[in-house]
Amino acid sequence: MKISAKHTSAFAFAAMLLTATTLAGGANAQEAEGLVVYNAQHESLTNGWVEGFTKETGIKVTVRKGSDMQFANQLIQEGSASPADVFLTENSPAMSLVDGAGLFAAVDKDTLDQVPEQYRPADGMWTGIAARTTVFAYDKTKLTEDKLPKSMVDLQDAAWKGRWGAAPAGADFQAIVAAFLQLKGEEATKTWLKGLKDNATAYKGNSVAMKAVNAGEVEGAIIYHYYWFGDQAKTGENSKNVALHYFKNEDPGAFVSVSGGGVLKSSKHPKEAQAFLKWVAGKGGQAVLKDGDSFEYAINGDANAKLVPLADLHAPKVEASTLDSKKVVELMTAAGLL
Ligand SMILES: [Fe+2]
Repeated sequence: MKISAKHTSAFAFAAMLLTATTLAGGANAQEAEGLVVYNAQHESLTNGWVEGFTKETGIKVTVRKGSDMQFANQLIQEGSASPADVFLTENSPAMSLVDGAGLFAAVDKDTLDQVPEQYRPADGMWTGIAARTTVFAYDKTKLTEDKLPKSMVDLQDAAWKGRWGAAPAGADFQAIVAAFLQLKGEEATKTWLKGLKDNATAYKGNSVAMKAVNAGEVEGAIIYHYYWFGDQAKTGENSKNVALHYFKNEDPGAFVSVSGGGVLKSSKHPKEAQAFLKWVAGKGGQAVLKDGDSFEYAINGDANAKLVPLADLHAPKVEASTLDSKKVVELMTAAGLL
């Protein structure tokens, strides 16, 4: 067994926690928790990461549950008093918000070196850890290929009135709108959002939207790909009538969203927090994506073999670090969607 300096310090850290707990009789709850991760990623995926990391390093991790924007706003409120060591999101706009508030520590260079440039911001204050693609999940009993929208923009047309759905309140969908805004500009986004308001049914979450397609309530829904793959890997009962349409062609509907990870500047365990992020973005964490049941894309190394390869998605070029979540909320609120 290879024991690097990093492992030695990791074990020392674990031992320190044990000592703190023993001596203080649990009074020092903060220390006893180990690393605190504000987790907005899907719980089962993060649990997989934590399990693997703790097994390898002995470092304990406490996962707190929340959503992208909820945690981003909480971190901004808490400032340097935050108990969080690490922040993990489903999408990048929340990372940009926290980065903009100056709350992240620079990510270690050897972590960044593991991640291809297109999956991390140029400032190196956070990094992509997984990716997900936008799809049109459609009722294959009703729609044939020739009847599918060529572009996500088409869904704003009157021809699609009452025929599609989305989950506009969620961070997943708002990241798609943020990409649309960056690619097409404000006027086009307003028009598309009006189309969404006029034509689509709003569901509470991507799974609910997919179920609605499966049940024949609507002919299609804009969601992320892994909801379908996840259901197929289980019983398939919520997706048996559903197929995925990939817009490709650098369409806004082919947007690939980057799930992010960052270390808080205020972390009391910066070394261990950096080690966790390195693990997640590295071989161990990426293997959880490749071999597990999250069906999100690895951004470093091979993706799950069941997925359409990232390179074949022909995603539009989007600068993740400048996705404007504030403007999106403003535009969606004005459109009566939030
Ligand atoms: Fe999601």
